[in-house]
Amino acid sequence: MSYLDHLNWRYATKRYNGAPVPEAPLQNILEAVRLAPSSLGLQPFDVFLLEDKTIREKLAPAAHNQPQITESGALLVFAAWNTISQQQVDAYINNIASTRNIDISTLDNFKSAILNSIKAKTPEQQFQWNARQAYIALGFATAAAALEKIDSTPMEGFNPAAVDNVLGLTDKGMSAVLILALGFRDEEKDPLAHAKKVRRPAPKRQTPVPTGIRHMSQSVPTPI
Ligand SMILES: Cc1cc2nc3c(=O)[nH]c(=O)nc-3n(C[C@H](O)[C@H](O)[C@H](O)COP(=O)(O)O)c2cc1C
Repeated sequence: MSYLDHLNWRYATKRYNGAPVPEAPLQNILEAVRLAPSSLGLQPFDVFLLEDKTIREKLAPAAHNQPQITESGALLVFAAWNTISQQQVDAYINNIASTRNIDISTLDNFKSAILNSIKAKTPEQQFQWNARQAYIALGFATAAAALEKIDSTPMEGFNPAAVDNVLGLTDKGMSAVLILALGFRDEEKDPLAHAKKVRRPAPKRQTPVPTGIRHMSQSVPTPI
């Protein structure tokens, strides 16, 4: 099966059969999140794994009682850091130096560039920037889940303040931006289990392209 077959197999699952996600694929999905790229490499978000039914039942009203919250096998909650602190930058720089076994002073310019780029942003802009990094990791997790034949649902249909409250995220200096439900589809209950995937038509490469600009993803198809 090619990776495109796996991506066609996946869909945003609405109803799950409640079976837990086995440890090996779950760990691989979490590893894909860890391996996702992030701007400057800062990884400015944390991920929380919720398998316990009681905590997920508590969370459900914060996510409009979408059935995936309690029927899936596990939830990953992606929480973006509210801001980026000097200590978090220090920890990152220390990690580079020790991982690559290099003198930390060789990273002084890089560290200043990071701190300047943070200083140029308001706290809200920092949070939004951090959230964007979490979205990239969500994409990696969703694709990894498909390769592992684990169903998933990316979700932002929830009240972040209510989720933060249930999970105690405000005290940790972060806020929920995404939930990824993981598990196994319930083919009988899920009306979308056999629905065709809806996407705009795949773009064709036109030749020649005098401008050198190929518009590959058109929101309104150009009449031919
Ligand atoms: C960022 C994001 C947030 C989403 N939020 C929800 C959600 O809260 N509940 C839900 O059932 N689906 C949610 N979806 C799923 C989309 O509706 C779905 O991916 C889209 O309709 C395309 O269908 P497919 O993923 O099945 O191919 C979300 C998807 C993304 C990427």
